[in-house]
Formats: sequence, C-alpha cells, structure tokens
Amino acid sequence: MDIVNSYIVEYLLNVTPERDEILEDMEQYALARNFPVIGPLVGRLLYALAKATQAERILELGSGFGYSAYWFAKALGKNGEVICTEGNPDNAEHAQVYFHRGKIANKVKFLVGDALKLIDEVDGQFDIIFNDIDKHQYPKAFRKAVPRLRKGGLLISDNVLWSGRILDRRPDADTAGILTYNRLIYSSKELFTTIIPLRDGVSISIKL
Ligand SMILES: C[S@@+](CC[C@H](N)C(=O)[O-])C[C@H]1O[C@@H](n2cnc3c(N)ncnc32)[C@H](O)[C@@H]1O
Repeated sequence: MDIVNSYIVEYLLNVTPERDEILEDMEQYALARNFPVIGPLVGRLLYALAKATQAERILELGSGFGYSAYWFAKALGKNGEVICTEGNPDNAEHAQVYFHRGKIANKVKFLVGDALKLIDEVDGQFDIIFNDIDKHQYPKAFRKAVPRLRKGGLLISDNVLWSGRILDRRPDADTAGILTYNRLIYSSKELFTTIIPLRDGVSISIKL
C-alpha cells in the first residue's frame, strides 16, 4: 500500500531541488541494487531536524552504505559527528568511498557489527539517534536508545508505517516489532512522539 498518493510523491520529488553529485550517485546505486535508503524526501527531513536542533552528536542504528548519514553529516557544524553502525562490512566499505568524495569523512565514524551491541560500546549522550535496523528489533532499539538521548534530543525511526502492513490482521515478526515500537514511543512518559506519513512513515520522538 502506498502511504502517500503516488502523484503527490511525484510532485514532491519534482519540486525537491537536485542533490549534490555524490548523493545522486548513492541514489542510483541504491536503485540499481534495490537497497532501501531513506531517499531525498526523508533525507531533507533529517537534515532539517539536525539543523533545527543544532545537533552535534548523532548515532545511527543501521547505516547501510551511508546515505542517511551523508544527509546528517552535511547538516552538522565543523565539530559535529555522526557515528554509523552497520552489520554488513561491504556496506561500510562503500560508505567510506562516498564520504571521502563528499569531504565529510572527518565527521563520520563507521562501526561494523550489531548496532544493538555497539550502542553499549560508545560513550556519552546523543542529540539525535536515528533507527533504521531490522524491524523486529525496533522494541529493543527503543529500550537501548532512549537512555542515550539528551533531554530535548530526538529519537527518529524510519518505516514506522511499513507500507501499510501495520494494518495486517496477522502481523509477521517485523510488522509486530513496528507495532510494539509505535505503542512504546507514543505511551512513553519520557518522549513526545509524532509520526509523519512521509514515504514509509517517519517517527520523531522528543526526549522530555
Ligand atoms: C534500511 S537499511 C539502512 C539504510 C540507511 N539508513 C539509509 O537510509 O541510507 C538497514 C541496514 O541496517 C542493517 N542492519 C539491520 N539490522 C542491524 C543490526 N542489528 N545491526 C547493524 N546493522 C543492522 C542492514 O544491514 C542494512 O544495511
């Protein structure tokens, strides 16, 4: 199920300014391999949120080959840092090529392994945690991420409407993970949450 009417998506993509050459190459790479990146509409949202909150320290759970991290890194000031976590080392290698081309390699640290273990190995608090790992793991990501956000920080998750599968009568493990996650972020007393039905649904939770 399309979350957003396809004509509206087409309009939004047409009205969206061109990206830099590296982001456009990354979009082509993702398209050719059917790799699920956030795309330019959500990329601009992440960039806007990082700028609006003056984020300096961002943690990504599930970085793929670095497309979403690239948007974040471009929004950061000179002392800003994005820590990427990704299970597939091939993706990490590809990401480095793009980060060097985009002259943002100095702002990005890329860790390979299980994001839900790596989060325990990095110190300190974050201004933004962006969660895009396997969907059945979202409830665990919630439990690990919330304590690591500063007050006023953002927990952002992609795919929270999951192509409409959140309406399934018999949800599979990934859908069930998202359903639980959405309940957790809306009911948490530590968070104020909203879901934006952009692309596949993006949740934004502010730590109170
Ligand atoms: C949807 S893709 C990420 C796309 C990326 N955020 C972007 O938009 O550019 C999800 C990625 O998370 C990785 N992944 C899934 N579960 C993970 C986990 N528990 N730890 C580390 N990486 C994980 C997968 O290998 C995949 O590359």
